[in-house]
Formats: sequence, C-alpha cells, structure tokens
Amino acid sequence: MEPWIAPSILAADFTRLGEEVRAVLEAGADTIHFDVMDNHYVPNLSIGPLVLQSLRKSGITAHVDAHLMVKPVDRLVGDFIDAGADLISVHPESTEHLHRTLTMMRDAGVKTGLVFNPSSPIDVLSEVLDCVDLVLVMSVNPGFGGQSFIPSSLTKLARIRAIIDQADHDIRLQIDGGIKVDNIGAAAAAGADTFVAGTAIFGSDDYAATIRAMRDAIARAD
Ligand code: DX5
Ligand code: ZN
Repeated sequence: MEPWIAPSILAADFTRLGEEVRAVLEAGADTIHFDVMDNHYVPNLSIGPLVLQSLRKSGITAHVDAHLMVKPVDRLVGDFIDAGADLISVHPESTEHLHRTLTMMRDAGVKTGLVFNPSSPIDVLSEVLDCVDLVLVMSVNPGFGGQSFIPSSLTKLARIRAIIDQADHDIRLQIDGGIKVDNIGAAAAAGADTFVAGTAIFGSDDYAATIRAMRDAIARAD
C-alpha cells in the first residue's frame, strides 16, 4: 500500500486553519488528521464537527481522517459523517457496542478506524476485523500533541501487521504520536503505512521539505 502522510491539524495555527490545511495539502499531505478531544475520554478539549463543516464549505475536498477521542462516541460519529469525514477512528473503550458503531459508519459509506492506546489490549481487533479499514496504534497516550514516541509501539505495530495481513480486504496501519523524520523509518519497518505527524510538520519552516524527508525515510526502511 502507498504510504500516506497525515498531518495532524492539532499543531496548526488555528487563527489561519483553512490556509494551514491548504498549505500541507500543497506540500504533499495525503490526508488531513482531525483530532477531536472532549475533556472526558482524554484530558483536553479540541475541535468538533462544526470546524470540519467550515473546512468543507470553504472548498477543501481532501481526504479527512477524524480521530475521535470522545466518550460516548456514537452521536459524534453521526455528526462527523454529516460534516464530511471520509474515515472515522474510534477507541474501543469509547463505545459500549463497538460492532454497532463501526457498522453505522460502514452503512453511511464512511471508512472505519479502530484505535489502540499504549495500554489497550488488541484482542478485540480479531472480532471486528471484517468491519475495519484502518487500525491506529497510539504511540503516545492520547490527549496532547508534542509528546515523545513510546518505543513499545513498534512491537504493537508488528503484532497488528501480522493480524491485518490475514484479512481478506485492505486495512491500513496508522501510527500517531511523536512521529518525526528520525523515527518514521522505524515505524515503517515495523509495518505502519499511514503516518500522523503534528508538531514535526506544522512546527517546521518548510512543510514540503519535511514531508519529503519523511517519505525518503519511509522508502529507506523498505
Ligand atoms: C494525540 C493526537 C495526535 C497528536 C499528534 O492525542 O491523537 O494526533 O496530535 O501530534 P504530534 O505529532 O505532535 O505527537
Ligand atoms: Zn490523532
């Protein structure tokens, strides 16, 4: 699968959000990673469906991957479907009935993502493999940008890669948290094909150069 770079807009300048999204897309981003936090499931508050609606209204048609760190999650899944998300990722801990939540997205024609925190067991993945289009491995505890990559995420990536390779449909493997030019290759070597990066991209002076350096590091890991 072609590697995807997914800038997390959590690290963007929110006073110029539309411009920032256009800039990373021009710089070569494959999807926009949209982090949603509720000060309940995670100890921080970010942005909701209204912001995605505004981006869509302003003419941004790019692929958007909404990472929902909210509990309960089902109502917001509906709101993000309506707001125009292409893929929605949920944490198994945020819903009482994971299969129902994933099926709701599939029925609406939206791709599904399943997210594992550093301490989350992954056994549920096998139970819902048929309903999953992307698995997201958190390489930090969710809630904040700018944290350090947790190295044990690499073994988790490799374990999940072995499971999704057995599926009879394509499933992306995304890594999120503390991804930089100097560790993205290790994540790729462990099996990731979709790379979220907030601080590393939006904190750099040249978005295109950073994304290019990330792609080079991924290619070297092959
Ligand atoms: C953390 C978020 C991440 C985060 C990534 O809860 O899910 O997407 O914003 O930011 P960096 O790349 O700065 O770790
Ligand atoms: Zn995220």
